[in-house]
Amino acid sequence: MKRKFYRKSLPLTLGMMCAVLLLGCLVVSFGSAQQSKDPLTGNWAVRNPNTDGTSRNTYFNLKQEGGRITGSIRVTQFYYLIAESTGDAAGFTIIATMKDGKTDRRVQYEGKLVGDELQLTTRRRPTDNPTALVAHRAPAGEGALPTRIDPPALHNVKDNGLARTPPMGWNSWNKFAGRVDDATVRSIADVLTSNGMKEAGYRYVNIDDTWEGGRDAQGNIQTNKKFPDMKALADYVHSKGLKLGIYSSPGPNTCAGYEGSYGHELQDARTYAAWGIDYLKYDWCGARTLYTDEEMPAIYQKMGDALLASGRPIVYSLCQYGRLDVWKWGPDVGGNLWRTTGDIRDTWDSMTRIGFGQNELAQWARPGHWNDPDMLEIGNGGMTETDTNGEVIAVDQDKLGKQGKQVWKSGDHEIWTKPLSGGATAVAVFNRGKDETKVTVKWADLGIVKRKAARDLWLSQDVDVQSPEYIATVPGHGVVMLRVR
Ligand code: GLA
Repeated sequence: MKRKFYRKSLPLTLGMMCAVLLLGCLVVSFGSAQQSKDPLTGNWAVRNPNTDGTSRNTYFNLKQEGGRITGSIRVTQFYYLIAESTGDAAGFTIIATMKDGKTDRRVQYEGKLVGDELQLTTRRRPTDNPTALVAHRAPAGEGALPTRIDPPALHNVKDNGLARTPPMGWNSWNKFAGRVDDATVRSIADVLTSNGMKEAGYRYVNIDDTWEGGRDAQGNIQTNKKFPDMKALADYVHSKGLKLGIYSSPGPNTCAGYEGSYGHELQDARTYAAWGIDYLKYDWCGARTLYTDEEMPAIYQKMGDALLASGRPIVYSLCQYGRLDVWKWGPDVGGNLWRTTGDIRDTWDSMTRIGFGQNELAQWARPGHWNDPDMLEIGNGGMTETDTNGEVIAVDQDKLGKQGKQVWKSGDHEIWTKPLSGGATAVAVFNRGKDETKVTVKWADLGIVKRKAARDLWLSQDVDVQSPEYIATVPGHGVVMLRVR
């Protein structure tokens, strides 16, 4: 039986082997013919190592058919499809686009193949100087977008009971960006403790993007070289009576191109809890490559559930730039606060556009759930300085949790009021102009009929409330703040 089988099967096997080999040769030679004919075809990577042991890669997955180039480009949190091309390996231009909520994003690259190098240039804006990049061949599939996991069905996430007043603290991004490290965070914790800010209520020390490493074989998120031991860091921050915050994205990548929580939400929430994390800022970024804006609530709900399931009280801060009217659904997905706009910059214009833009959103703020107009820009040089003031902070932290609203406006001058617990009212008289000015505050215009006493909170002085109006002298770009009882 056996013999027979061998005798019969041998020629067949040999034949098959030959066929396979031949086919292999054919495939290989077809491949190289293809490569020399359409040499741009393939996966190309631009590798930019960061100093923390991670690297920021851009992938060009190209298919060339003569004078036509198609494929995709993946740059940190963006994934573009090539929409137009001209030229070939000797010199080409590609234009690639992606949908990002209501925005159509577009990138353009010029390139040519020189030996093994794909030499490229790109510009952020047509008027910018070009940035040069060099890509090398990368293994097929490297840098490919992961398979999309469908969003879960919506349900209401239980309120975690945290942030009954707006959380106050420090965040690394606007000052340190990618330079934040363990030593910086420790020194901030030291300073908040020694300069009175902790007593004033600044409790959260929040590490923004760029702490992330990759994942281990079990999928556990790792820190990069800048943060050798997150648990030890949390212990240190806690030993100062402060709390530690961290950052991630629901997408495969964060905004700075680091590892996101995509597909690892529960696991990451558990890791944060094990490290002793008290606050998570969760930034849409890389999620835009896989999900539409309409899917945001379900995607944010996933991490809301995961944080609750971790068993540790972790403040949940949504960062998706105010899209899809987040204030309407933020609380339902477990959010304690939600960014209402794009990123603040260190300028008066940016700060005031955001600050005064919160007026319409007042009705959505309440204990446990806050509009987040982004971080303060302090010490970065673009604006003037004002000291921390306990009486002003008390207005921010008032337990009634009502947001201030504009009640009067004339040119550059605006008056905003905020009801406080115990029946008092905070009154802020703003001067958005550059020069000092006098603003007449008519109490009746503000609906403040009965007045026992009032105090100027920045000057820490009582002011007269007997006459029907009060004349406030307001510095340029400044405010006079009163508390009226
Ligand atoms: C986005 C956020 C910023 C910051 C960066 C980090 O731009 O809006 O606040 O977190 O990402 O990459």
